[in-house]
Amino acid sequence: MPLSDTISLLFCLISVLSFVNGNAKDAGAVCSTCKQITDNFNKGFERTTKKNFGGGNTAWEERKLSKYETSEIRLVEILEGLCESSSFECNHMVEEYEEHFETWWFKRKTKHPDLHKWFCIETIKVCCPKGTFGPDCNSCVGGSDRPCHGNGKCDGDGTRGGSGKCTCDLGYEGEFCLDCSERYFSEERNDTFSLCKECHSSCSTCTGATNKDCNDCRDGWKEDEEEACIDIDECSKEPPPCKDKEYCLNTEGSYSCNVCDSRCSGCKGPGPGNCVACAEGYKDEEGTCADVNECELPDTVCTEEHQECVNTNGSYKCRCAGGFEEHEGVCVQQDQPEVSQEEPAEDTEDTKTENILTEHQDL
Ligand SMILES: *[C@@H]1O[C@H](CO)[C@@H](O)[C@H](O)[C@H]1NC(C)=O
Ligand SMILES: *[C@@H]1O[C@H](CO)[C@@H](O)[C@H](O)[C@H]1NC(C)=O
Repeated sequence: MPLSDTISLLFCLISVLSFVNGNAKDAGAVCSTCKQITDNFNKGFERTTKKNFGGGNTAWEERKLSKYETSEIRLVEILEGLCESSSFECNHMVEEYEEHFETWWFKRKTKHPDLHKWFCIETIKVCCPKGTFGPDCNSCVGGSDRPCHGNGKCDGDGTRGGSGKCTCDLGYEGEFCLDCSERYFSEERNDTFSLCKECHSSCSTCTGATNKDCNDCRDGWKEDEEEACIDIDECSKEPPPCKDKEYCLNTEGSYSCNVCDSRCSGCKGPGPGNCVACAEGYKDEEGTCADVNECELPDTVCTEEHQECVNTNGSYKCRCAGGFEEHEGVCVQQDQPEVSQEEPAEDTEDTKTENILTEHQDL
C-alpha cells in the first residue's frame, strides 16, 4: 500500500473515531470554529475591498488587472487572515476544506452570497440554521422562529449538536418557557407568547406588580389594614433583637445588627454620637464620647519615679522618661556609652518599646 493511501486511511480512522466520540459540546465547538472562519472571511473581504494593483484605476488597469476583486490573489490574501496561528482547530478546518473556499469564490459566490450558510450549514454541515439543532437541523422547542417562545435558550441552537430543549430566562419556567417562576406574575399570555414580571419585593406570590397585589406576604413583611404587605420593623420589637454592644438597623423585609463604636458602652446607632453611655476611658463631650486625657488629670496617674505619662485612646501608658530605662519594675538611669551619640536613630526605637512599664487597657 503506498504511503499516501496509508495516511488517508489513518485520517479516515481518526475522523470516524472522533465522530463516534463526538458529543453536543464538540458539535458546538466545531460550528463556532466554522462561524469564526466565515466571519473572518467576511472581514477579510471588507478589508480588501478598496485594494487594487496600482492605486489608480487607469483604463489599462481596468482591462488588464481590474479582476483583483475576483482574483485568486485576493482569495489567498483573505484565506491567510482566517485563523490565529495558534488555533489548531481553525487552521485544520481551513486546510481540510481549502478547495471549498475556491469553489465558492469562483463559482458559487453570486448565487450563494452568504458564506456561512453555504459553507458551514449546507456544504460541510457543521452548523444548522438559527432556531434549529442536531444532526438533522430539527426545530428547537417552541419552533425555529422564536425558540423557547423568546423566553429562553435552545440547547444546541444553530449547531449540529444539542437536545433542542430550553433553558428558560429568569422569571420563566416549564418545557416551553411560557410559565412564570415563583415570585413572578403573568402580565400577558396566549399559546405562543408569555410575559412574566417580578412581584413586589413584599410578596411571596402575587397577581400584579404592587404590594397590594400579593397573595401572601414574604417573611419580614405583614399585611396592613388595606391588605397590602408592609415591612415589619424588627428593631422596635421587644426584646430587642440585637446584642448589648450592637445597634439594630431596620431594612426592607429584614434588619441587621451592627457593632457599636468602641467609644460607646451601648448605642442606638453608628459613631460616637449615638452612644447610650460612654465606654471606660471616654467622657461625654457635647453629645459625643471623647477620649479622656488621663495624663492631664489633676491627680497624677504615673506615680513611680522618673515615669512619664502617654495618653492613648481610651487609656494611657506609663513609661520611663528620657535617659531612664526599665529595670526590675523601676526606672533607672541609663548607662551612657560613648557611641550612643553617633547612633541615636536605632536607640530611639528600642527605648520606646522596652521602656513601657504599665499599659492600661479596658478594665
Ligand atoms: C399572542 O400574543 C402576542 C403578543 O400580544 C401576539 O403578537 C400574538 O399574535 C398572539 N397570538 C395568538 C395566537 O393569539
Ligand atoms: C484614636 O482614635 C481616633 C479615631 O478612631 C484615631 O483617629 C486616632 O488615630 C486614635 N489615636 C491613637 C493615639 O490611637
